[in-house]
Amino acid sequence: MTQDLAPTVREQTAGPHTQGWWRSAVIYQVYVRSFADSDGDGIGDLRGIRERLPYLAELGVDAVWLTPFFASPQADGGYDVADYRAVDPLFGSLSDADDLVRTAHELGLKVIVDIVPNHTSDQHVWFRAALDEGAGAASRDRYHFRPGQGEHGELPPNDWESVFGGPAWTRTCGPDGTPGEWYLHLFAPEQPDLNWDNEEVREEFESILRFWLDLGVDGFRIDVAHGMVKAAGLPDIGRSEQAKLIGAQVLPFFDQDGVHAIHRSWRKLLDSYGSDRIGVAEAWAPTSERLALYVRPDELHQAFNFQFLTCDWDAGSMRTVIDASLEATASVGAPTTWVLSNHDVVRHTTRYGGGEPGLRRARAAALLMLALPGSTYVYQGEELGLPEVLDLPDEVRQDPAFFRAGSQDGTRDGCRVPIPWSGDRAPYGFGPGGSWLPQPEAWQELSVEAQSGDPRSTLELYRSALVLRRELPGLGDGPMAWLDAPEGVLAVSRPGFVCTLNTLDREVELPVPGRPLLSTSPLAILIPEGRSAEGTVRIPADSCVWWAV
Ligand code: GLC
Repeated sequence: MTQDLAPTVREQTAGPHTQGWWRSAVIYQVYVRSFADSDGDGIGDLRGIRERLPYLAELGVDAVWLTPFFASPQADGGYDVADYRAVDPLFGSLSDADDLVRTAHELGLKVIVDIVPNHTSDQHVWFRAALDEGAGAASRDRYHFRPGQGEHGELPPNDWESVFGGPAWTRTCGPDGTPGEWYLHLFAPEQPDLNWDNEEVREEFESILRFWLDLGVDGFRIDVAHGMVKAAGLPDIGRSEQAKLIGAQVLPFFDQDGVHAIHRSWRKLLDSYGSDRIGVAEAWAPTSERLALYVRPDELHQAFNFQFLTCDWDAGSMRTVIDASLEATASVGAPTTWVLSNHDVVRHTTRYGGGEPGLRRARAAALLMLALPGSTYVYQGEELGLPEVLDLPDEVRQDPAFFRAGSQDGTRDGCRVPIPWSGDRAPYGFGPGGSWLPQPEAWQELSVEAQSGDPRSTLELYRSALVLRRELPGLGDGPMAWLDAPEGVLAVSRPGFVCTLNTLDREVELPVPGRPLLSTSPLAILIPEGRSAEGTVRIPADSCVWWAV
């Protein structure tokens, strides 16, 4: 049966603030230890990234986000920072960072670094001093130290759970072994939470931001941007509930109104360096409306849309999430920031079912995402269609969440396996040595080398989509409308452009919306030849097609 593709009433506009490179940007996330290794220690590094920047420029992205490469004991893959102004020797030196930023700029790529303000490493000088100087010392006020409950202070100060599992409090011990106060850590015990009511903390972070802005970075991804402020008095939750990072719970330590004052002050600081330096919030907020508060005109520029990331492969749910997201961000004049994968979640090829169907859906979802209004993040390896590695032996795992009972939603090493570049044997061109996590054997077929030049590969799909996204004025930030479509199908209309997504496991027949530009399914590429007398097209199962109209 042929379905009508008539325009619907809904129209989405971009809002008043339409300037700014980030509004339409495609930003590529580099998980530093897994991208490219220059020195053969099996761990990716800054020089490795620099050597591979031409690949990213050629891929067609606008910017690169680098996960933390600062001095760190690596208790949580670098999200436990001991010195925010130093590069960890594992990853290189400050001069490597400088070279990287310069080379990226020469290639037309912007660079975003990852700032971790919710907590430091337990090896940070501030925390060492706080432990050494003991209860009552001013150095303790930079963190959340509290006496325990119970007759001898043997119980944690409140009932908060760490995102990685177990209590969010650890008890300190004096040099003579006497137990003392407890300190708060929403993540691992090696990541004590900072007290953002302390003026020194605020000043120090402004100084850290300036340090990296002076070095030339184009912005910051702000880690746990929703967690820095805790409800006054650190009240009990009153129920037993495992805190999840990837969730929408209302909790006294996430998404408190007080965080916005910090983001506002950071925006002022960013603006003092010109209008092109940006802040992107990693904020897990309960609703799209709450998330939109982080991107009000005087706050940050972007906030990852995790509602889209966590949405099922279902046209109805996707449309609901897209509508809610666009409405919420339009209400504050910000672009929506789409994301399907990152270093904390199961890769979307696997989330959407794995195997052939998972890959088909992942490719289709990517094309949908790149057709939506706003900015898009691409996690390293998704352009290769990499699946989650599900069978890592326990002894090679490093995610602290894995080692703590009742931990964070799923383990995170499986999406962090070093990416394959070339060759037929591990480490597939990742570096001259091995790789810190073992790569599956089948990855030789997924390498950049193996996929380059194959028009049916996921890599070439991304390359073509990114070229088109740059060429077509209707894509990126700007208006969109839905076209009527049968159940299970989404049809997105942008100026001069239509995107049709079939989420069903069978083909659907539609009137031909225009001239096909790109399709995720080899069958659909044959559409022009298959056009029937009535002008209909069969969109294959789990696939997405871009059309010029
Ligand atoms: C963020 C990071 C995650 C890290 C956590 C604690 O969610 O993305 O990898 O474990 O913060 O810093």
